[in-house]
Amino acid sequence: MKHVSIAIDGPAGAGKSTLARALARQLGYLYVDTGAIYRTVALRALRAGADPEDPAQVVPLLEGLDLAMDYGPDGEQRMFLEGEDVSQAIREHRISGLASKVSAIPQVRDFLLDFQRRQAREHDVVMDGRDIGTVVLPQADVKIFLTAAPEARARRRLLELRQRGQEADLDTVLRDIVQRDYDDEHRPVAPLRQAEGAVRLDTTQLNLEQSLQSLSSLVKERLQQ
Ligand code: DC
Repeated sequence: MKHVSIAIDGPAGAGKSTLARALARQLGYLYVDTGAIYRTVALRALRAGADPEDPAQVVPLLEGLDLAMDYGPDGEQRMFLEGEDVSQAIREHRISGLASKVSAIPQVRDFLLDFQRRQAREHDVVMDGRDIGTVVLPQADVKIFLTAAPEARARRRLLELRQRGQEADLDTVLRDIVQRDYDDEHRPVAPLRQAEGAVRLDTTQLNLEQSLQSLSSLVKERLQQ
């Protein structure tokens, strides 16, 4: 049986994970956060003391990489590295930049491709990331490019970090977001861009509830076509 897939791509802090998770819940689909997978590889590189920008140091770590993903009793996606639940550890601010760096290495992307596609083969999914509509699931039933102005994204990210008890200031978060956008958009392999056939949703002026409403009606409308 063919499963339904919804691809949501966009820059850091556009609200992808919150909205994708909520949409998946509404539809009864599995939510797959692919950023978490890259973050887990970044954590492995960090722990190994590897330079995340140096393929010669990162690529050998892929062989024998013990990475797993499942869903907890609360339905939340969990990431495991060598059997250890690293779902919290990968949310640290410094992991964001490292994940962006390891994700620019073509062998890392290749290595994770099948892992991601398997989820969509086996389940109805809402999958979010940077290249889901362009590379991972180009045949997705619905493709969304979710974006917002950098300042709005920085404010949201700051709030999220503070809610997790992490200290950060707006200038630093904004600078990191602009840098990460640049890196994600300019890498030679699978750069962040709007996929062909994707619908663009800009949430700068929308709160969470309004964003979810727009996203949800957009997706439902397209699923019926
Ligand atoms: O969505 P996130 O902030 O958790 O993602 C962390 C980094 O991982 C992001 O800066 C780029 C990379 N990434 C990617 O290259 N492709 C994806 N599908 C998801 C994330």
